[in-house]
Amino acid sequence: GVAAKIAPSMLSSDFANLASEAERMIRCGADWLHMDIMDGHFVPNLTLGAPVIESLRKHTKAYLDCHLMVTNPIDYVEPFAKAGASGFTFHVEASRENWEELVQRIKLKGMRPGVALKPGTPIEEIYPLVEAENPVDMVLVMTVEPGFGGQKFMPEMMDKVRALRKKYPSLDIEVDGGLGPSTIDVAASAGANCIVAGSSVFGASEPAQVISLLRTSVEE
Ligand code: DX5
Ligand code: ZN
Repeated sequence: GVAAKIAPSMLSSDFANLASEAERMIRCGADWLHMDIMDGHFVPNLTLGAPVIESLRKHTKAYLDCHLMVTNPIDYVEPFAKAGASGFTFHVEASRENWEELVQRIKLKGMRPGVALKPGTPIEEIYPLVEAENPVDMVLVMTVEPGFGGQKFMPEMMDKVRALRKKYPSLDIEVDGGLGPSTIDVAASAGANCIVAGSSVFGASEPAQVISLLRTSVEE
C-alpha cells in the first residue's frame, strides 16, 4: 500500500508553546505536523496564518502540512512559501475558478499541492485536479465540517475514500476530523493513508501509543 503519514493536528496543541508541542509530537513519532489555517470567513473560526508558520519553522525541520480553510487561497501561496510551509492544501469550494493557476503557483514555490473537500462536496469534483497535467499530490477528504477540532467522525465519507483509492492506487489520501483509535480501522480499510488526528492524540496520556496505533492500522 501507500506509506502511512500520521499528522497530529496542532489545532489541539497549546498555541502558547507551539514549538515545544511540535517537538513533542515529532518525538512521539509523528510524520507530519498538520496546521489548520482558518480565516473566519470560509469557516466560522479564526486560527493562525503565515507569521506563525514562519516562527514555528525556525524551531523545526518537520513537514508542515498546511490545510487552508480560507476564501482566497491563491493570496496565501507566496506568504506560506516564504514562511516555510511544506504542503499547501486548499479547498476546492474556494478555488473552482482558478485551481489550475493555483496548483501551478504552489508547485512553482516549492510546496506540495493538495486539494480538500467538505462533506457536502461530491468526490467527482476533484477528479479533474488529480488527472490534470499539473496534478495535486494529495486529496484531503474532510470527515467533519471544517472549522473545529473534537467533532464526530462521519463514516459516510468513506465512500469518497474508497472511490478515490480504487481510481488512484498510489495517491496520497488524507482524512481529517474525528480520527482516533475507534475510527482508524474504517478509514484505513477504505484506503486512507494520511491520517490527521487532533483531540485523540493531544488528549491521550500517551500520544506516542496513539500515533503508533494509527500507523499500524494503516500499514497492516
Ligand atoms: C477541522 C480541522 C481538523 C481538526 C481535527 O476543521 O481541519 O484538522 O483539527 O481535529 P480532531 O482530530 O479533534 O477532529
Ligand atoms: Zn485540518
